[in-house]
Amino acid sequence: MKNYKVGIIGATGMVGQRFVTLLANHPWFHIEVLAASSRSAGKAYKDAVGKKWAMQADIPANVAEMTVMDATADIEKIAAAVDFVFCAVDMKKDEIKALEEAYAKAECPVISNNSANRHTPDVPMIIPELNDDHAVIIDAQKKRLGTKRGFIAVKSNCSLQSYVPALWPLDEKYGVKDVLVCTYQAISGAGKTFETWPEMIDNVIPYIGGEEEKSEIEPLKIWGKVEGDKIVPASKPNFTAQCLRVAASDGHMAAVFVRFDKKPSIDEIKKIWADFKGYPQIENLPSAPKQFLNYFEEDNLPQTKLQRNLENGMAISVGRLREDTQYDYKFVCLSHNTLRGAAGGGVLLAETLCNKGYIVSKF
Ligand SMILES: NC(=O)c1ccc[n+]([C@@H]2O[C@H](COP(=O)([O-])OP(=O)(O)OC[C@H]3O[C@@H](n4cnc5c(N)ncnc54)[C@H](OP(=O)(O)O)[C@@H]3O)[C@@H](O)[C@H]2O)c1
Repeated sequence: MKNYKVGIIGATGMVGQRFVTLLANHPWFHIEVLAASSRSAGKAYKDAVGKKWAMQADIPANVAEMTVMDATADIEKIAAAVDFVFCAVDMKKDEIKALEEAYAKAECPVISNNSANRHTPDVPMIIPELNDDHAVIIDAQKKRLGTKRGFIAVKSNCSLQSYVPALWPLDEKYGVKDVLVCTYQAISGAGKTFETWPEMIDNVIPYIGGEEEKSEIEPLKIWGKVEGDKIVPASKPNFTAQCLRVAASDGHMAAVFVRFDKKPSIDEIKKIWADFKGYPQIENLPSAPKQFLNYFEEDNLPQTKLQRNLENGMAISVGRLREDTQYDYKFVCLSHNTLRGAAGGGVLLAETLCNKGYIVSKF
């Protein structure tokens, strides 16, 4: 059995709380350190998180009394105490870049949910079912950083975690050419609940800062190729996106229009989705959904509230595939933004890198 000591940086935040609940009973990963800002440092976790606790389950008993460490002041101490850290913090981009690099240079691998390093050319941005092969770039990154075991690996933005997986397996055979996507994103994506963001009750806000750019550009890195010491982004598919904030607590829905180089039939698309397996399914990793892409035949599915927790929130739900008058096809898809799209995706990425031998326990 694999056994790793882990730290959670940003443990009091929305994504950090998800990490805490997901890791409470994880077979490989054991929480050794919880860290956040100096505002929380020195307090018991349950007091630091206080009323911000937004999970349905209670704070796990084994962490409630744990003293929160200072994520910036205690880097060396934290790095010495764990095998690697998960990082999800709300700080300025350049501060996050510096923080993540400091952990890596302290020989502590960083599995990051932040966007700061997503476009660093030797930092892999991995959806484990799709581009797990990008992990090979870690050796070049370690050379640049001058580290033996420290590196940074990131997961992509939560908005694209449903439509990129649905398009990916179709691309090899049929060539995905143009994609128009509109996303309908939950408020937990902004680290909020209806209590902390009452303006969102009965509302839709047609703007999420920076989200459309991420939704269009990040897929190209995932489709990119490792060339020497960097990942070179692909030049296609062409993506255009509109991202809306909607009155849902969790779960990002996407309405997708797609044009192919060679148009498949509806049955061919459904078969590819049903048959698709990636590295986590083949290796049977602890957090891997058994069926990654799930197609629903009912006209009114998938629904955010009904399907977001499918396979512990790690599976993608797809539906309403039909011909379009301007593109070849249109469909909708859904993923849980703080599970598959954030903490769960981070845990699966860590499982992938442990299983491939990029993270080895030092204890
Ligand atoms: N929510 C999502 O669905 C989602 C999805 C994908 C990615 N992300 C990304 O994940 C990150 C965290 O998002 P979130 O929604 O969890 O944010 P959040 O709820 O606002 O939590 C922010 C966390 O950052 C900590 N923090 C703030 N300033 C800090 C500092 N100077 N030093 C150390 N820690 C500091 C906070 O600690 P205190 O409590 O002590 O202030 C808290 O633990 C962001 O980069 C976000 O873009 C979020």
